[in-house]
Amino acid sequence: MSARPIILDTDPGQDDAIAILTALASPELDVLGITCVAGNVPLPLTLANARKLVELSGRSDVPVFAGCSRPFVRSLVTAEHVHGKTGLDGPELPEPTLPVDERHAVDFIIDTLRSHPEPVTLCPVGPLTNIAMAIVKEPSIVENIAEIVVMGGAWREGGNITPAAEFNIYVDPHAAHTVFESGAPIVVHSLDVTHRALMSDEWIESLRSLGTDVGIASAEMLAFYERFDEEKYGTSGGPLHDPNVIAYLLEPSLYQGKSVAVTIEIGSERTMGQTSVDWWGVTKKVPNCTWIDDVDADGFYRLLSERLARYPLA
Ligand code: RIB
Ligand code: CA
Repeated sequence: MSARPIILDTDPGQDDAIAILTALASPELDVLGITCVAGNVPLPLTLANARKLVELSGRSDVPVFAGCSRPFVRSLVTAEHVHGKTGLDGPELPEPTLPVDERHAVDFIIDTLRSHPEPVTLCPVGPLTNIAMAIVKEPSIVENIAEIVVMGGAWREGGNITPAAEFNIYVDPHAAHTVFESGAPIVVHSLDVTHRALMSDEWIESLRSLGTDVGIASAEMLAFYERFDEEKYGTSGGPLHDPNVIAYLLEPSLYQGKSVAVTIEIGSERTMGQTSVDWWGVTKKVPNCTWIDDVDADGFYRLLSERLARYPLA
């Protein structure tokens, strides 16, 4: 079976980092490119972090692209309080030497979707600005999108940046609205599912015990990253949001979900970026996504451990 072509759109971010490292160690996926967007930290830092991670993985064959530096309409909101000043606090990774591809991320997404011989899966794990901009610039690309598997949104769990909204959707709600109304097949990994699979200190230490550059760096990233959610939620361990998108592509049987209609709030400041999930079909709106709401947590962390243990790649 040929590898599934994907584009990973990201705002690294320690959880983005584990998604990137897992994807790059998985031959089932053909990572055509990594596109960066402003989100957890400003674009220059998300771009530098993506380059550092691709170098750490040894997969310098995978191009990295700079994307949008701010949301469609609103001012950029960042999350240094979660991810640290660099966006990738924890390990000391060397300054990247990997070149940035000269094409803009939005043009790379458009060109790839127009030219790739088979439909491409888009995997946004940050604000949806790049994805939405590509759809607005060239609407015909929707026909060649296999799926958009997004980390974002919240319903039963409630928001993490406001009471109503999850960070990725909140940062660029207008982009999210554009994507969810595009007609593309969408699979949503919201806080409803990511909060059902919390990291444990034992799991993080098992990564450190690998003794590899990737294992040690991953443990240092996650030990820093989980502190915020542990303090906020009073839990032992925090959610590891973004790798759920990659795990879903590798082992979809780990997840359960339902086809529902989701609308993005862009009118009210109080609920800006809310993902309004019509779970019971009361609006009679045609479903526009699959809302994932359960995961085999043990299976999820087993899969991540197995893939991260493959480093250094042959
Ligand atoms: O709300 C969690 C999401 O926001 C994750 O993608 C995290 O990396 C941040 O981008
Ligand atoms: Ca992210």
